[in-house]
Parts: sequence; C-alpha cells; structure tokens
Amino acid sequence: MIKKTVESAINEQIRREEFSSRLYLSMAIWCQSNGFPGAADFLYRQSDEERMHQLKFVHYVNDRGGKAALMALDAPKSSFDSLLTVFEQVMEHEHYITASINDLYEVTLNEKDYTTGNFLQWYINEQIEEESTMSTILDKINLVGDDKAGMFHIDKELAAMATAAISNAAV
Ligand code: FEO
Repeated sequence: MIKKTVESAINEQIRREEFSSRLYLSMAIWCQSNGFPGAADFLYRQSDEERMHQLKFVHYVNDRGGKAALMALDAPKSSFDSLLTVFEQVMEHEHYITASINDLYEVTLNEKDYTTGNFLQWYINEQIEEESTMSTILDKINLVGDDKAGMFHIDKELAAMATAAISNAAV
C-alpha cells in the first residue's frame, strides 16, 4: 500500500503532466495557425506523450492501493512571439518537470519507498531524452535566426520527427 505522502506527491505530479499536455497542445494550436505545420505535428505528438506520462502515474498509484486524483489546472498560454519563443518555453518547462521529478524521487527516498523510486527511474531517463531533444531543436532554431528558408527546413524536420515517433510507438 502506497503511503499518503507519496500518493499526494504523485498526484501533484499527475497535475503537472496533465498541464504539460495542455501546454504543448496550446503551442501546437499556435504553430498550426502561424505557418508551422511540422512544429504543430511535433507538439501535438508531444502533448500525447505528456498525457501518457500522466496516465502511467495514474495507473501506478491505483495499482499500489492508492487513489489517483485530478486537480484544477490553469489555462496554458495560447499566444507566442515566435517559434523560437515556443521552444524556449518548452525547454524551460522541461527543466521544471525534471526538477519536479527529482523532488518526487527525494520524497520516495525519505519515505523509504524504494518501489516507487524504482518506478521513477523511467521518468528520470525520459527527462534526459526529452531535454536533449528539445535542446537540439532549440539550437537549430537559434542557428537559422530569421532565415525563412532555414525555418522552413526546421519545420519539415519537426514533421519528420513527429512521424518517426508515431511509427516507433506503433512497432
Ligand atoms: Fe512528462 Fe516531459 O515531462
């Protein structure tokens, strides 16, 4: 049976993952209506991933005899200055999520809940991968600056990344 302290810390993380999903959905909508269909595909896909992160926590809490709970969420930002701003904010948000997963891990150590600590390893690794992906995208966007042709190629690349992620998930 999961301890209440761990249960409520995970429920807080469920809220953050759900917010992440809505934030990326909001960013995808902005990209789609501002001429970046590839970035939109990528962020729609990212939004689905965050929803999967949320669900994974929901099932874990329930499987351990606890009760997953949903909380109120603030509306995500819906307007951005540029594609660069979008990905700067994605990066900033992923740093925040990484820090929150680390805090959650610390709760499990303090509570000597090594099972949950072990479960969190998946998220720790996932964050390494996501931060690295976002940082690469951000570097490329910074590199092309205001060059429209360069931006067009980045958008195409993001579309290809979204398609590859979908086919990998289907295998
Ligand atoms: Fe589920 Fe990228 O945080």
